[in-house]
Amino acid sequence: MTALTLSTAAAPGLRADAIVIGVAKGAQGPVVAPGAEAVDKAYDGKLAGVLETLGASGAEGELTKLPAPAGFKAPLVVAVGLGAQPDGKDGEDGGAGYDAEALRKAAGVAARALAGSRKAAFALPVDSPGAIGAIGEGVLLGAYSFDAYKGDAQNGGNGRAGNGRAPLAEAALLGGKPRDAAHKGAVARAVAVCEELNRARDLINTPPNDLTPAAFAGIAQAAAKEHGIKVQVLDEKALVKGGYGGILGVGGGSAAAPRLVKLSYTHPKAEKHLAFVGKGITYDSGGISLKPAGHNETMKCDMSGAAAVFAAVVAAARLGLQVNVTGWLALAENMPSGSAVRPGDVLRMYSGKTVEVLNTDAEGRLVLGDALWAASQENPDAIVDVATLTGAMMLALGSRTFGVMANDDAFRSAVHEAAEEVGEPAWPMPLPEHLRKGMESSVADIANMGERMGGGLVAGLFLREFVGEGISWAHLDIAGPAFNEGGPFGYTPKGGTGTAVRTLVRLAELTAAGDLG
Ligand code: BES
Ligand code: MN
Ligand code: ZN
Repeated sequence: MTALTLSTAAAPGLRADAIVIGVAKGAQGPVVAPGAEAVDKAYDGKLAGVLETLGASGAEGELTKLPAPAGFKAPLVVAVGLGAQPDGKDGEDGGAGYDAEALRKAAGVAARALAGSRKAAFALPVDSPGAIGAIGEGVLLGAYSFDAYKGDAQNGGNGRAGNGRAPLAEAALLGGKPRDAAHKGAVARAVAVCEELNRARDLINTPPNDLTPAAFAGIAQAAAKEHGIKVQVLDEKALVKGGYGGILGVGGGSAAAPRLVKLSYTHPKAEKHLAFVGKGITYDSGGISLKPAGHNETMKCDMSGAAAVFAAVVAAARLGLQVNVTGWLALAENMPSGSAVRPGDVLRMYSGKTVEVLNTDAEGRLVLGDALWAASQENPDAIVDVATLTGAMMLALGSRTFGVMANDDAFRSAVHEAAEEVGEPAWPMPLPEHLRKGMESSVADIANMGERMGGGLVAGLFLREFVGEGISWAHLDIAGPAFNEGGPFGYTPKGGTGTAVRTLVRLAELTAAGDLG
């Protein structure tokens, strides 16, 4: 990962491959953002005009390269768009009125464009530790690339195909104070969160022939050991013994057996306990209700919820948050075979409830039902599950926003707010009671499918049945934003995005601070 440093150096004397500056969209054309004063001065105060000549407007995502002025040690200036110029007042946690998300996105765009470079200096607007953290996150997340399967790494290659360039090696954040505890803390937080988030992306991008449930469990075990997290892995035998019928039913069709992983981070002074539950379908073929071609090519991403939960628990441990966090990874591969669950089968879930499986492609709710009930047995203060659960949620909210459902309005609002705060687009969705009727089964307590209309909400209602009495619970359906099938944007790469990691970490922080529930 890119190394972050704080630097008080002046831009002209900096030895770097490039200096990154911000340009905003002003009423009368592009405006050079604070932080780039020395660069502007070297252009005789005419940098905005130069940028305009080059076609820059300051729009979000825009990138303009120009030669550095005479006398600068760095050869290149990279001007990155910050979007609309703020109206003067200070933005929330951002720099000079620029909000944190604008800085995060701009830093991400620049870091990605600087792949192949050794060192870049970021001279973006900084007026708070929050701005430092946002720029740091943008750099670390934007510079990410997944190259493990490219090129000829085994024979001494770099693991990158032909023209692949290594991620930016070092980013110096100008305006940062290397001796300031708050600035150092902001960098340390960004590094801990983004390292884990990028690991979640790696897991999502890893092809499903390599990332089996057992392989994922092994990776979780190793990371837990490294960070002092207690870990328990239930293998197939233990799942049978415990009566985890949902996970076993879904995993039964695969040659790669399912697992349930429990990660327990505890703090000696913790007053609250959060449980995170993740859907970890390492590949979703649909099972006997097989998905048609065109719908299964990206289904390695169906473990994104478990990856997010894993990353968030490890990040909470690395940050030493004063809260207990338990992560549950419900890992299985959904495959058709002679031992696969059939439409018409009835499963006895861990909670004792019976489920008639009408569609084996509605498998996420089955593994989550078991994990939610397991999480409930510890009576945590709140449970949040994360799942690429329904195509219906994608139809409702598109590919960049996740849906938030809950059994508690105040908790749903708190989760939504936390998501917006960290720059993860989310939106509250209802759990209409009348939709429960569609899941009535003539042979079992409930069916795993209901009405097609409102399919995302139906799935949420199904999950609610497996949450223990009196526990606040929220469900994040990340089917849309989990996997980016389009080109990279902001600090979001192609492929696995790591969505929900930062929301979960923020929830843990808020709970530790006593600001949640
Ligand atoms: N993993 C899918 C949902 C999904 C679809 C995630 C597209 C990401 C992108 C889930 O297991 C699924 O297949 N859901 C079905 C449920 C239906 C059979 C009730 C769906 O949404 O079609
Ligand atoms: Mn499915
Ligand atoms: Zn699925």
